[in-house]
Amino acid sequence: MALTEARAVDGVTGQSYNDCGKHMISALKKNRVTAILSISEALNQIKDIDSLLDRVLFEARRFSRADAGSIYLLENQKLRINFVQNDTLTRKESGKKYLYQNHSLEINDQSMAGYVALTKKPLIIADAYHLPQAVPYKFNRSFDESAAYLTCSVLTVPLITPYGKLIGIMQIINATDENNSVIPFSNEDELVVSFFANHAATSIEKAKMTREIILRMIKIAELHDPEETGAHVNRVAAYAIEIYSAWALNNRKSEDEIKRIRDILRIAAMLHDVGKVAISDLVLKKNGPLSADEFKQMKGHVILGARLFKDSTSDWDDMAAEIALNHHEKWDGTGYPGEITDLFAENCSSGPGKKGAGIPLAARIVALADVYDALTSERIYKDSWPEEKVLQHIRDQKGKHFDPELVDIFFSIYDVLRAIKNKYSEN
Ligand SMILES: [Fe+2]
Ligand SMILES: [Fe+2]
Repeated sequence: MALTEARAVDGVTGQSYNDCGKHMISALKKNRVTAILSISEALNQIKDIDSLLDRVLFEARRFSRADAGSIYLLENQKLRINFVQNDTLTRKESGKKYLYQNHSLEINDQSMAGYVALTKKPLIIADAYHLPQAVPYKFNRSFDESAAYLTCSVLTVPLITPYGKLIGIMQIINATDENNSVIPFSNEDELVVSFFANHAATSIEKAKMTREIILRMIKIAELHDPEETGAHVNRVAAYAIEIYSAWALNNRKSEDEIKRIRDILRIAAMLHDVGKVAISDLVLKKNGPLSADEFKQMKGHVILGARLFKDSTSDWDDMAAEIALNHHEKWDGTGYPGEITDLFAENCSSGPGKKGAGIPLAARIVALADVYDALTSERIYKDSWPEEKVLQHIRDQKGKHFDPELVDIFFSIYDVLRAIKNKYSEN
């Protein structure tokens, strides 16, 4: 994109770049502007909102060598924390669980984030524990205290679309020098991060809309099948991402490959049971055991789901079809539907089930995530199992229902999975 085409709103003045961009751009070194614009182009390729926020935050932190950061998005007139990164905590044993936070802030002058959303102006704080006396906002120490972290310098910028709409704020924490000592953010950091935030806001708004459309599809399915709630699919997708990431590290996958898969896995995992929309209510909502014929109909949801994504136009469609079709396969070959030669044939599912690594990895991951969540969740027709009973079931099914390597990974990141459960609770 040429610089003259770049239209965004300056967080300081509220003017568009057509009006004030030249002075901002001239204040930045040319190579930093070029870097920001090429990253902004790359952001447009990312489909999933979480992958996008991950990249936006990573790049914003990279400009100022910041140790940590978070993005809050506007939801129901509040700022809801959507994404957190923290290098110090990620390096610590069981520090990663603190990245799944669940809180909202009012848009008012009581917090730094609320104040930036209110004023739509960036804010630099040199030391969060020694705020200037005249300011209205306070620093909330609860995160530092629970995670044993020390916040010092903070840069908070608004995320504003080219049409002047505030969609959230980004906060980056603890800028560092070459020796990794924490230093205050500079005015140039503020300019660079604000400029980048303005460019990223459009991509964020677009990806947010995609996620909302998916969740609406799931809401429609939920009217039909009360098992597949928005909270359930959000949890299954987040568990799947974390299990995949740990698997990919164990299996020495490249960072680019991990990012690419994470981007498509989340949405594809959310849609694992979308084929149930085509199953009769009489079967789906039956109170009591299913007859052999009803069970056969129920099993058909994997085929119906896969058909939805059959005219594949993207990697994302391929993975969604793979997961929809295979998430009831079992490692020992006792699952369904087995090999399918023609997805559109009338009686295309006959078994036997696929076995072991013959089941696509993404489907093996979703199988584990889905069963864990279904057993630990309460439904109208059933109580949840006690957590220990669920964990014992997963241990017992290692090498039977579930891929043994994935079961080991599940237990190695169990604290992160619990934090996810807490973040996406039913409401
Ligand atoms: Fe299913
Ligand atoms: Fe499910």
